[in-house]
Amino acid sequence: MKSITRRVFLGTAAATAAVTLGQFGRREKVLAQTQEINLYSSRHYNTDNILYQNFTQETGIKVNLIEAGGDELIERIKSEGANSPADILLTVDVARLSRANQEGLFAPVSSPILTERIPANLRHSEGHWFGLSKRARVLVYNKQKVNPNELSTYEDLANPQWKGRLAVRSSDNTYNQSLVASLIAVHGEEKTLEWCKGIVANMARPPQGNDTAQIEAVAAGIADVAMTNHYYVANLGVSDEAAKRQVFEAVGLFFPNQGDRGTHVNVSGAGLIKTAPNPEGAILFLEYLTSDSAQKFFAEGNNEYPVVEGVPVSPIVAGFGEFKSDLANLQQFGDLLPRGVLLMDRAGWQ
Ligand SMILES: [Fe+2]
Repeated sequence: MKSITRRVFLGTAAATAAVTLGQFGRREKVLAQTQEINLYSSRHYNTDNILYQNFTQETGIKVNLIEAGGDELIERIKSEGANSPADILLTVDVARLSRANQEGLFAPVSSPILTERIPANLRHSEGHWFGLSKRARVLVYNKQKVNPNELSTYEDLANPQWKGRLAVRSSDNTYNQSLVASLIAVHGEEKTLEWCKGIVANMARPPQGNDTAQIEAVAAGIADVAMTNHYYVANLGVSDEAAKRQVFEAVGLFFPNQGDRGTHVNVSGAGLIKTAPNPEGAILFLEYLTSDSAQKFFAEGNNEYPVVEGVPVSPIVAGFGEFKSDLANLQQFGDLLPRGVLLMDRAGWQ
C-alpha cells in the first residue's frame, strides 16, 4: 500500500493554533499541481456545499461532489477499482469508515496537521481515516412521564423498570451497532448479549423508523425514552416547522454514563482513497476541514460537535450543556461491529 506523507512540519504551537491554508509549506506546489478533487460523500447537508465552495475560493481547487449512501459509495469505489476517480470517502459514522478500511479502500495519510488537530481516539492509528465531527448518542425522555433523575446509563435501560417504555431503532442501523460495539469493549460479549435482550424486552413497539422517529414517538407518548444522536434533537429545535419545534419542546435530553466512562460518541469522518488521482490536493482538503473556521461551519451545519478543541458549538447544542464523552478509541469498534450485529440478532433485536 502506498503511503502518502506530506512533508509539512509545523511547530506544535503553530499547528494547535488556528490552521489556515496560508501556513501550509507546500501549499503553492500542491495548488499548482491540483485542479480538482473528487469527494464521495454520504453527508447530505447543504451547508457542507458552502464549505466546499469556500475551499475552492481559497485554493482554486474545485471540489466535485458525488453524493450517495455510505454503503453505496463503498461499493462504487470497489467496482471502479484502480480507475476510480474517488479521492476522498466522507461518511457519517465509524461503522462505514471501518467497513471501507476493511475493504482496503484507504491509504495511510501522515499529516502533522491532522494528528495535531484531531484527538487520537477519533482517528485511525495509521491515518486510514479521520473523524471530522462528533455525534453523541444521547437519551431523550418525555418530560411529562420521566424525571431525568430516573435516568443514568445505557446499561440501566435494560432493567425491568423500563419495560414497554423504550423506542428503539432497528439493529441494521449503524448508530446502534456502534453503541453495542462500545458496550462489548467495556463489558464483553456475554453481558452485552444480556443488555440487548433487556432492550428488546423493554421496547414499547417493534423497531421502526429513524432517529427522528424515535424522538417523535417519545414526544407523542408512544414511548418514554429513546436513544438518538444529539443533532436530531437539535435539528428539531431549530426547525422552521412549528410541529417539529413542539416535538423538541416535549422531550428532554440526557447525557448517559456521566458517572463512569461518558456518553458514547461516533464521528462523521473521511479517508484518502488508495487509488486517489489527486492525493495531495485531497490531503490539503482534509486539513482544511480541521481549520477552526471550517470546523465551526462543518459541525454547525448539522448541529454536531467539532473534533477540534475550543471550536464553539451552535447555540442550541451549547444549550444542551457540557458533558463527558467516552474517550474509547473508535478504531476498536470497527473490529467489534460484526460481533455486535450477531448479538443483536441473537437477542431478537429486529
Ligand atoms: Fe445521522
